Amino acid sequence: MTSPTADIHDDKILILDFGSQYTQLIARRVRELGVYCEIHPISITEDSVKALSPRGVILSGGPESVTAQDTLAAPSFIFELGLPVLGICYGMQTMAQQLGGRVEAAEKHEFGHARVTLLQESLIFSGLEDSARELDVWMSHGDQVVEVPAGFAVLAKTGTCPVAAMSDESRQLYGLQFHPEVQHTPQGGEILDRFLKASCNCRGSWTPANIVEDIITNVRRQVGARNVILGLSGGVDSSVVAALLARAIGEQLTCVFVDNGLLRLEEGDQVMAMMDLAAKNELPIKVVRVDAAERFLSKLKGVTDPEAKRKVIGNTFIEVFDEEAAKIQDADFLAQGTIYPDVIESAGTKDGKAHVIKSHHNVGGLPDDMKLELVEPLRELFKDEVRKIGIAVGLSKEMVFRHPFPGPGLGVRILGEVTEAYADLLRRADAIYIEELRNADLYNQVSQAFAVFLPVKSVGVVGDARRYEYVIALRAVETIDFMTARSARLPYEFLERVSGRIINEISGISRVTYDISSKPPATIEWE
Ligand code: XMP
Repeated sequence: MTSPTADIHDDKILILDFGSQYTQLIARRVRELGVYCEIHPISITEDSVKALSPRGVILSGGPESVTAQDTLAAPSFIFELGLPVLGICYGMQTMAQQLGGRVEAAEKHEFGHARVTLLQESLIFSGLEDSARELDVWMSHGDQVVEVPAGFAVLAKTGTCPVAAMSDESRQLYGLQFHPEVQHTPQGGEILDRFLKASCNCRGSWTPANIVEDIITNVRRQVGARNVILGLSGGVDSSVVAALLARAIGEQLTCVFVDNGLLRLEEGDQVMAMMDLAAKNELPIKVVRVDAAERFLSKLKGVTDPEAKRKVIGNTFIEVFDEEAAKIQDADFLAQGTIYPDVIESAGTKDGKAHVIKSHHNVGGLPDDMKLELVEPLRELFKDEVRKIGIAVGLSKEMVFRHPFPGPGLGVRILGEVTEAYADLLRRADAIYIEELRNADLYNQVSQAFAVFLPVKSVGVVGDARRYEYVIALRAVETIDFMTARSARLPYEFLERVSGRIINEISGISRVTYDISSKPPATIEWE
């Protein structure tokens, strides 16, 4: 019998990354259509491609121009393997140029919505053509193909772009000048689906239920009868890892939950309750809760620099975790919630130009002498897949769709020195804000929202009395990737209500402000 592992990875698409901001989006769309895919750099060797044994290849878009000198090209063997290839935007332009066509800088750049007229039948447009000879699409390009290579036909055009799509149906080579992966191309999903299913013959077995089965089989194979430790933060990734491992290896898993004193209101109890609930759903999860608040706060005394605070919190976490791990008998493995974007980033499919703006510590950097092997069951998954799997293994929607919370917690939301008193005030303000966001159905409309504590005093009046207390800033952002973000336009009445509650209910706060900065130039967190 073939194992489920072989099954769900069998139909694999290779995505070659030319550096487009949309490369990961292409991969997510392919996964949503039920097909496993991997993103690799264009420097990939022929042997590696053969070892991967993909059913087809997608060439992503990219920021360069094929008309300039020494620009990125697809490895030429890619067109010789007999595999279906889909080039998107830059991917199409380089395919055209490499195979003998011609690309020129367009007189008119096209950015945004465009209407494409279909001129020819194609496998990737089959079923679309009858109902729509014209498609609404999203374009973003300066160059364009002006002459297709020998053997290719022009499939579509726009008013300004003579070759909006091209193909050599006999060799199954396709090019799209527009972006099928973005929402603004409504039929983009269907076009990708045709490529994956009709051209590459993928079956669509990459589904949450199959992924869960696959992970469970793999974890059992890796771990055998040995024991695993997991640092549980209460965030989505580590909670999903806990639920998956509980299913896979039950009692062999011990979770360690460190309360660092920088968590949100009642968060520790909520995490324990969530694990209890999961246990009621026949997922017995052993959790050791360590109350280390005092230890963290005493180490943070006098530390004001944001990066120094991150280091103290990260190192103290490792110390505490290390001590707890040493108490657990015969642990051989450490489980981590590493997800696919982390893997891609550390493998550096991009050219490594991304700057490290803040040092983001999570569980990373555990001491060498721990000698624990890693179990990373989410390594292949995007965040949206992790969420779907979380739901599939019985975690609540509220948990799974929670906003991200940074590893150093409230430590980077209290400006300057962290004290217990400041953390208590911030916790209460944040809880009011989040409760009101949920009540107003706004929580799920923003990507991340939180309160920030400003250790400056401001004057207020309550009744006849003068108050001289601290300031809270509210932040809410909308973002897709957290690399850029804009401040959410929350209704004024809503903000007034939250401000009123915070000032009235928390005696240490006399003023509330709303942060309207975008990222860049500001960051999402205040430190
Ligand atoms: P910034 O502030 O860099 O935040 O715009 C982008 C995203 O990263 C989160 N963030 C962190 N996460 N450790 C983490 O685990 C950190 O030190 C850290 N700093 C920022 C932030 O909450 C946002 O989602």
